[in-house]
Amino acid sequence: MKINGKSWRTIWLREDGCSLGVIDQRKLPHDFCFSIINSFEEAAESIRCMMVRGAPLIGVTGAYGLMLALQKDPSDESLDNAYKILISARPTAVNLSWALKRVRKQVEKLPLEKRAETAKSEAKSIAEEDVLMCEQIGNHGFSILQQIAQNRSDKERLKPLNVLTHCNAGWLAAVDWGTALAPIYKAHHAGIKLHVWVDETRPRNQGANLTAYELACEGVPHTVVVDNAGGHLMQHGFVDVVIVGSDRTTRKGDLCNKIGTYLKALAAYENSIPFYAALPTSTIDWSIADGLNEIPIEIRSESEVLQVEGQLKDGQIASVRLCPLSSKGFNPAFDVTPGKLITGLITEKGVSRATESGLKELYRK
Ligand code: MRU
Repeated sequence: MKINGKSWRTIWLREDGCSLGVIDQRKLPHDFCFSIINSFEEAAESIRCMMVRGAPLIGVTGAYGLMLALQKDPSDESLDNAYKILISARPTAVNLSWALKRVRKQVEKLPLEKRAETAKSEAKSIAEEDVLMCEQIGNHGFSILQQIAQNRSDKERLKPLNVLTHCNAGWLAAVDWGTALAPIYKAHHAGIKLHVWVDETRPRNQGANLTAYELACEGVPHTVVVDNAGGHLMQHGFVDVVIVGSDRTTRKGDLCNKIGTYLKALAAYENSIPFYAALPTSTIDWSIADGLNEIPIEIRSESEVLQVEGQLKDGQIASVRLCPLSSKGFNPAFDVTPGKLITGLITEKGVSRATESGLKELYRK
């Protein structure tokens, strides 16, 4: 996607072939800058500190991280050590372990001198496939948006199609295009008049900081709302469809995504508003059936809840405390939405019901 008319990806292999460029997402929307990653330790740290974030992107970063480790030392010990450190950088999005397992499988049986090159080509493939998958998700999701727009009454059609999204599942969360935002970009490019309600997504505000930034760069009309506004907007007919991303989807169609997604799904269900999740195959965890009990939920620092970060008038970024000094905070970063609340899963292969049989049928094809 473009920033100031120039196409960017969130991560790229630099010309030297042994370092990565990434957009530093902690600085957006105030400052657009990128960072250079030279080692697997730096790749793991970039995931941990959320310089890079979003399920597909941390998978790609992990894959390149393993490549960096093998370029320095292709031994079994080095592979094991880098794999262990990278996989533990963040626990919830399955894309990270999916990508690491994929690279590891390709290299572990090879002679040492072939490992780094093979890891490089596998990591590149993972990145390129991610772009293709997200674009396909965009095409399938576009058909859904088009249908919903057409099914509205003549009076409703005078208004833009109102889409609500949570967190950031745009191109910044992937390599390009994104998942939940890809259909929105496709629809916007095709001339469908739409407007996006952007949940701010406390505590890290990925909606207010990143989704709003992406949509602004692409010229998509949008409005940021506090997380608690969604139910009210839905009750009053201001939302036509909800689309979110996913960090892990079980084989039964339960959806783990940014904290607060579940409440949006409940409100959508209660108000008969279609609720879709958009996800590449790399986000499906076929080994898990029960999302609520089996998906590890990342618990982040209480400081993200007790404080809030923003830009001062002089341009400085500052963090201010919101709560009494004696108050404690609790910060689960993800929640699980049962498949029964989900209208459909938009994947690169097509759209499926959020059930075991729905997913099986789609993937059998
Ligand atoms: O904690 P983050 O910013 O990595 O969480 C991101 C999300 O929850 C996204 O919705 C998710 O990764 C969707 S994938 C494009």
